[in-house]
Amino acid sequence: MRLVSLLGLPFAAALVGAASFKDCQHKVKESIHGPPRGWYKHAPAPKHHMLELKIALPQPKFPELEQHLWEVSDPSHTRYGAHLSKEETDALMAPHPETLDIVSEWLASHGLAEEDLIRSSANDWVTIHVPVGLAEDMLNTTYHVYKDSKTGESMVRTTSYSLPEILHEHVDLIQPTTMFARFKAFKSSLHWTDLAQPPVSNSPNGTITGPAGNQVDASCNNTVTISCLKQLYNSVGYNTSATNGNQLGLTGYLEQYANNMDLQQFYQLENPSAYGSNYTFVSINGGLNNQSYADAGIEADLDTQFGFGLTWPTPGTFYSTGGEPPFTPDMLSPTDTNEPYSYWLDYVLSQDTLPQTISTSYGDDEQTVPYTYATRVCAGMAALGARGVSVMFSSGDGGVGDGDANPATQECYSNDGRNVTKFLPAFPASCPYVTAVGATINIPETAVFFSGGGFSDYFLRPSYQDAAVSEYLAKLAPGTYEGLYNPYGRAYPDVAAQGYNFLVVYQGNTTYVAGTSCSSPTFASFVSMLNDARISNGKTPLGFLNPFLYSSGYAALNDITEGNNPGCGTEGFNATVGWDPVTGSGTPDFEKLMALVLSMP
Ligand SMILES: *[C@@H]1O[C@H](CO)[C@@H](O)[C@H](O)[C@H]1NC(C)=O
Ligand SMILES: *[C@@H]1O[C@H](CO)[C@@H](O)[C@H](O)[C@H]1NC(C)=O
Ligand SMILES: *[C@@H]1O[C@H](CO)[C@@H](O)[C@H](O)[C@H]1NC(C)=O
Ligand SMILES: *[C@@H]1O[C@H](CO)[C@@H](O)[C@H](O)[C@H]1NC(C)=O
Ligand SMILES: *[C@@H]1O[C@H](CO)[C@@H](O)[C@H](O)[C@H]1NC(C)=O
Ligand SMILES: *[C@@H]1O[C@H](CO)[C@@H](O)[C@H](O)[C@H]1NC(C)=O
Ligand SMILES: *[C@@H]1O[C@H](CO)[C@@H](O)[C@H](O)[C@H]1NC(C)=O
Ligand SMILES: *[C@@H]1O[C@H](CO)[C@@H](O)[C@H](O)[C@H]1NC(C)=O
Ligand SMILES: *[C@@H]1O[C@H](CO)[C@@H](O)[C@H](O)[C@H]1NC(C)=O
Repeated sequence: MRLVSLLGLPFAAALVGAASFKDCQHKVKESIHGPPRGWYKHAPAPKHHMLELKIALPQPKFPELEQHLWEVSDPSHTRYGAHLSKEETDALMAPHPETLDIVSEWLASHGLAEEDLIRSSANDWVTIHVPVGLAEDMLNTTYHVYKDSKTGESMVRTTSYSLPEILHEHVDLIQPTTMFARFKAFKSSLHWTDLAQPPVSNSPNGTITGPAGNQVDASCNNTVTISCLKQLYNSVGYNTSATNGNQLGLTGYLEQYANNMDLQQFYQLENPSAYGSNYTFVSINGGLNNQSYADAGIEADLDTQFGFGLTWPTPGTFYSTGGEPPFTPDMLSPTDTNEPYSYWLDYVLSQDTLPQTISTSYGDDEQTVPYTYATRVCAGMAALGARGVSVMFSSGDGGVGDGDANPATQECYSNDGRNVTKFLPAFPASCPYVTAVGATINIPETAVFFSGGGFSDYFLRPSYQDAAVSEYLAKLAPGTYEGLYNPYGRAYPDVAAQGYNFLVVYQGNTTYVAGTSCSSPTFASFVSMLNDARISNGKTPLGFLNPFLYSSGYAALNDITEGNNPGCGTEGFNATVGWDPVTGSGTPDFEKLMALVLSMP
């Protein structure tokens, strides 16, 4: 069997044959020491229970794709803005032909024909629907129903799976197997409850000095509206175009439906010119669009109201992606699936044209996403960047701790079998190919305590942030938080925006929300306005922002120097002069940023 890889012939795998896979010894491909805290093994999984298995095939040309990404995103490079097409990124993500053959051969040996396989646009993912019994044969494993002791929810998972040894170099990962990720919306329910009553304004009719030095309504210190954000971030008087080709994309998951009646009521209240306008709805993987008030999602309402409200009349797209564990396996219909980023990525990467700016307000603790899976999702974000899309993610609502916004009830333990206390970075914010957005509060702006920030345990610090992050680390007293975080990791957030007291309309009533879920669509809206300005001036969109932000863009941001992000029983990190792991390089000053991006090639 060795011959196959030695010869490297495109069709050599056909020589292997079904019998050979059965002879070939299985070897463990991936294992975890146990399920995450709170989950326990309940019962063996029913053999007929259906799994949607996603198989990631290696992308041998990814280093080349990454090189393109750095070049086209660096304003000082001659190729700045020379973004790739779908065909070009597909070719750079494609597996080796030999890999395609041998994996097909293996699937065929288990009775799965080509017509049973769903392939991604670049052929780098294969999806199959198989009963647990067959998956157990293929992966020489035993699936169990795991239950969450707090919520009673279930998932069908295993803690280890194997593959014939010959397949190991041809498969990056197969899920759902060991992945217990709990994807969540980064709007903070804690604050939302606290803020059910409107905050009291201290000087409702006056003005105060905003971060850009201009006068802003004093009420903006208590209630954040569309008008406030345009004043604070200095875009009053800038009109976006409806027709220059610029677009904003927002994502929805977890059955979060954006309610159109809420949106129109919000427009009447906060942006009357947008009243009556609509956006494009895209359903991915069975994502629904329930329009009754009872089905409105606060996260989806927040994202669409502020994202589309700030950028109107820029055309908007809302992606509703279905499919998310956990679920009740006793119910007959549902198929066990993975967390839904990969479905969304599969969809957008298969499109010829994409919105130039996309914001997502959902994430997981990095450690709940297997390293192999996080790496592949992050590679998809790199492809989006190479295509010229600016991708924003909320940085999380637990400070340096887990997704629990209440520092007192956080549980910051490693899930690697050692069970040691450590800070818990958030993913995808920790992916070096996205722009992570933290949160501020008040005027003058300070970091808000829940603003997620820290250092990845999976991804190394990318060179674009080397200088900024080294400078921050050098300011820490020697030994600070030693062992609690990885000083060599990708540091986040990159930037920040207001994240408290946002006035939204939800199920027909006004209410207040908080969270980095407010900050990401806000920052993304100002990026979308910058893309609008560039496109109207015949320039390319900004694409992946970080190389620009860390080399020159930071000078056009309002540096946030007060506040910290406690968690895991610590005070967290401090906001400081320059970049910090609480608010990144700061909040946008649109006029300054626009001058800068229009001066770039
Ligand atoms: C499957 O795993 C078991 C141990 O769990 C091992 O004894 C057996 O040889 C494996 N089967 C194959 C085909 O590798
Ligand atoms: C603010 O202005 C409104 C309407 O102009 C007025 O009724 C109200 O008394 C003013 N409030 C204060 C505190 O000045
Ligand atoms: C923006 O639009 C408003 C309303 O149509 C108009 O009054 C204003 O002059 C426009 N501003 C610019 C800079 O074009
Ligand atoms: C707006 O778009 C959504 C999604 O496409 C659609 O469900 C809704 O009916 C539209 N609303 C109006 C007022 O056109
Ligand atoms: C709304 O969505 C749920 C699934 O989350 C579905 O069961 C229900 O029937 C839908 N309701 C309507 C009115 O479409
Ligand atoms: C990890 O350690 C904490 C504190 O010592 C303890 O409460 C918890 O039960 C431990 N968890 C596991 C999975 O061992
Ligand atoms: C804004 O509100 C904060 C918190 O209430 C307060 O400390 C600050 O002084 C206010 N800013 C101004 C300019 O009044
Ligand atoms: C909205 O307000 C109405 C009238 O005050 C109230 O009956 C209803 O319960 C409120 N809905 C929500 C979701 O708060
Ligand atoms: C944050 O600032 C406070 C007050 O200056 C200081 O005591 C603390 O050590 C700083 N924390 C870190 C992690 O730098």
